[in-house]
Amino acid sequence: MTKRVFLFIVVLALAALPHVAGAQATGSPLKIGIVGAGREGSALGALFVKAGHPVTFSSRHPEELKSLVAGLGPLAQAGTVEEAIAFGDAVVIVIPYAAMEQIGQAHASALAQKVLVIDVSNPIARRDGEAFVKSVGDQGGAGLVTAKFLPGAHIVRAFNAIGAGKLTELAHRAGEPVGVPIAGDDPQAIAVAQSLIREIGFEPVLVGGLAMGRHLVPGMPLGGEHTPAEIRQIAGTLH
Ligand SMILES: NC(=O)c1ccc[n+]([C@@H]2O[C@H](COP(=O)([O-])OP(=O)(O)OC[C@H]3O[C@@H](n4cnc5c(N)ncnc54)[C@H](OP(=O)(O)O)[C@@H]3O)[C@@H](O)[C@H]2O)c1
Repeated sequence: MTKRVFLFIVVLALAALPHVAGAQATGSPLKIGIVGAGREGSALGALFVKAGHPVTFSSRHPEELKSLVAGLGPLAQAGTVEEAIAFGDAVVIVIPYAAMEQIGQAHASALAQKVLVIDVSNPIARRDGEAFVKSVGDQGGAGLVTAKFLPGAHIVRAFNAIGAGKLTELAHRAGEPVGVPIAGDDPQAIAVAQSLIREIGFEPVLVGGLAMGRHLVPGMPLGGEHTPAEIRQIAGTLH
């Protein structure tokens, strides 16, 4: 499926959801910048808009995001990566992990000013290369390496292994919510992330510090859909 078709489907799926005034229910809207409005970034950002948060979606070609933001209404806008980072009180980074170093080189000092940087990105061999993924692993895995690339940023890893195509349908599901394992070292950033995750209809489960972020990648035991209790049980077996 092309990115353009995926974005169109995200907008259609969200239009069908009941309106959820999460931000208004739990606090003030938080300005959110999305770096990487591809499959996962657009789906997540759309859920934040639906919860009442103003969101700037970014691309190196922001004109390609016109239909996405038009479909999401006045809280959504498109911009460059620099504009999205400047806009957000919280920034969500949803890019190929191999691009993280470049984001750090260009934007680390701006990102360090943010209350929260959510790292949704994963090192994946078929996209980023075996050698790169091995090097990330050798340095402690995604999490510690993100902190190295983005010095000073208040990072929480989250949503790393919930597929873009399932996010909209799983949000606010009836009965027990889907758990989102998160890892981070900064208490304030963790608290903000937990609040945002609840507002968009999931239950955050802190599995440990940023070093535990290496377990938050697809194909690992914490990947996929789990209840909060299952996440706690699985996390207890990891170190
Ligand atoms: N897809 C999923 O189901 C899923 C689930 C959980 C986590 N993730 C993780 O989320 C990340 C993105 O995955 P995706 O499937 O959404 O990929 P995608 O659809 O290919 O989107 C990636 C986005 O990253 C942006 N990007 C790439 N290089 C960049 C750079 N150097 N600077 C700024 N932006 C850059 C691209 O923006 P432009 O080309 O428009 O500039 C593109 O919109 C990956 O790390 C993936 O492992 C994906």
